[in-house]
Parts: sequence; structure tokens; C-alpha cells
Amino acid sequence: MHAIAVRSVPPAVKIAVLVRTWPSEHGWAAVASGILLLATCVAAHAVSSAQEELAEVKRSVPNLDKGADYFDSCGACHGPDGGGTRDGQVPRIGGQHASVLWKQLTDYRHDRRWDVRMEHFADRHNLADAQAIADVSAYIHQLVPSGPAGEGNGKALDAGAALYAQRCSRCHQTNAEGDAAHAVPRIAGQHYDYLRRQFYDAVDGRRPNFSAAHIRLLAKLDHDEIEALSDYLSRLPANRSQPTNKAGGGVH
Ligand code: HEC
Ligand code: HEC
Repeated sequence: MHAIAVRSVPPAVKIAVLVRTWPSEHGWAAVASGILLLATCVAAHAVSSAQEELAEVKRSVPNLDKGADYFDSCGACHGPDGGGTRDGQVPRIGGQHASVLWKQLTDYRHDRRWDVRMEHFADRHNLADAQAIADVSAYIHQLVPSGPAGEGNGKALDAGAALYAQRCSRCHQTNAEGDAAHAVPRIAGQHYDYLRRQFYDAVDGRRPNFSAAHIRLLAKLDHDEIEALSDYLSRLPANRSQPTNKAGGGVH
């Protein structure tokens, strides 16, 4: 599992490759504007169908037994308790707010978050419909990962704590427990290397579901600050404030 690190190719890159390989007699301007229009339509469609599906997930009443069945395939990478891997390749998802899981899974399905492994497992072959997303999310939400998360070198924890309190806690909350009502993820006790990767992915445009404001906030951080924040967050107890949206509810 650890060896799989291939990322899916972002549509912008796919389009750039298409433009470069297109025969020149088609006329660059016409081809480029056609592709741009197509890309805009595809992006707009992805957003609206993602929102529609998310609304349908929210309306579904989750079934934990079915969620456990769906989770069989997820556990192969995320672990039976949803703890992920300490090297940060696979994130901790056990105990995450259901509202966050709903959003991330629909985003992978609708090209709003890119990762070849997850796009495959979030697709309709594995999770047939909105109900399946609700079921598996409810199951993941009540899991309690055991053992410590992967951590950094511990040298800048005070700096990490100060940065967190100033710039992040108003949304991710005091203990980084997140906010189920606003689909803000719990990031306490998340693996260090996973967190670091998300910061770079977001700033480099590889995680399109981050808001522009969030990307600007992260872009202000230098390498030392990213390490300090990731290290601090990875050591926070994941279960300090117990999940509030048991079985997927609680966010309405
Ligand atoms: C082949 C390994 C693999 C399998 C199987 C897998 N995942 Fe993942 N999952 C990953 C990786 C790797 C990531 C991180 C991807 C990234 O960086 O965007 C991830 C990320 C996620 C996230 C986002 C977590 C966050 O903190 O934002 C969710 C939610 C998730 N997976 C749920 C699932 C569910 C539900 C299943 C089963 C239906 C599943 N995964 C199956 C490897 C896997
Ligand atoms: C204005 C509110 C807000 C602020 C301030 C904020 N965040 Fe976030 N953060 C969010 C939301 C909402 C998401 C979920 C984005 C999505 O849908 O993928 C998120 C996602 C994340 C993720 C991805 C988690 C995962 O599981 O993949 C990380 C890491 C993160 N934020 C770290 C930070 C850090 C560090 C700071 C401070 C420097 C910060 N955030 C400040 C709202 C905020």
C-alpha cells in the first residue's frame, strides 16, 4: 500500500497536454477557446451535481450495518479502526464528523478532490448512491482509532500552538476538534505527513475543494511554520471532545 503514491492528473494538466498535442492547422485560438469553454462547463456541472448529491446524502437516514459492509473495502487502506498509516500516506478518518466525510466523498466523486486511489473507491462501483455514502460515513464516524498519529520532530511545538490559536482555531476550534455543523474537519491527531501534504497540495492547486480564502491563508505559511503546525496538530488528542454527530446526524 505504501508504495502507491501516484496522484491523478488534474483536468488543467490534461487540457494542457491536449493543447500541446493538437495539430497546429486547427488554429490555436479557436482550439484554446473551445477547450476553455468546455472546461468551464465541465467544472460548473461538477459543482452543481456535487451539491445535489451532497444534499441527497444529508437527507438519507444512515444504516450502520450496511456502512460496516461498505467499510470492508476501505479498511484495507484506512485500517479496521480508520486509523490510516503513520507515514501519512493514508489519513485517519475514524471519528471524523459525518458532515466532513459526506463532503469529501462527494468531492472525490465529482472531480473536486483528486487522488487516484480515493477517486476509485469513492466511485459508484463501490458506493452506489447517496445512501451508501451516508451509511459508510455513519460507520466511520463512530470508529475510534487507536495508537498515536505519525508525528514530526517535536522541535517547534510552541510555535505551532501559537500559530494555530491565531490563525486556525476560530474555524477548526480550540482543540482542533473541527465543527460538524459547518463541515470543518477535525484535524487533531491527524498524521503529520498527511497534514503537511494537504498544505502543499492546497497551495499548489492540487486540492480544488479548499476555498480560495483557505488557500490564501495557507499560502502565507513558510516551510517551518507548516512543519510546526503539522507537528502540533498531530500530537493533539483525537478524542478530546467526543464526536457530536453520532450515526451521521447532528449537523442539521
Ligand atoms: C487504496 C487505498 C484506499 C482505499 C481502499 C480507500 N482509501 Fe480513502 N484515502 C486513501 C488515501 C491515500 C487518501 C488520501 C488522499 C489524498 O491525499 O487526497 C484517502 C482519503 C480519504 C478521505 C479524506 C480524508 C480527509 O481527511 O479529508 C476519506 C473520507 C476517505 N478516504 C474515505 C474512504 C472510504 C469511505 C473508503 C471505502 C469506500 C476508502 N476511503 C477507501 C486511500 C484509500
Ligand atoms: C474560515 C474557516 C477556516 C480557517 C480560518 C481555517 N480552516 Fe482549515 N478548513 C476549513 C474548512 C471548511 C475545511 C474543509 C475544506 C474542504 O471541504 O475540503 C478545512 C480543511 C482543512 C484541512 C484539510 C483536512 C483534511 O482532513 O484533509 C487542513 C489540514 C486545514 N484545514 C488546516 C488549517 C490550518 C492549519 C489553519 C490555520 C493556518 C486553517 N485550516 C484555518 C476551514 C478553515
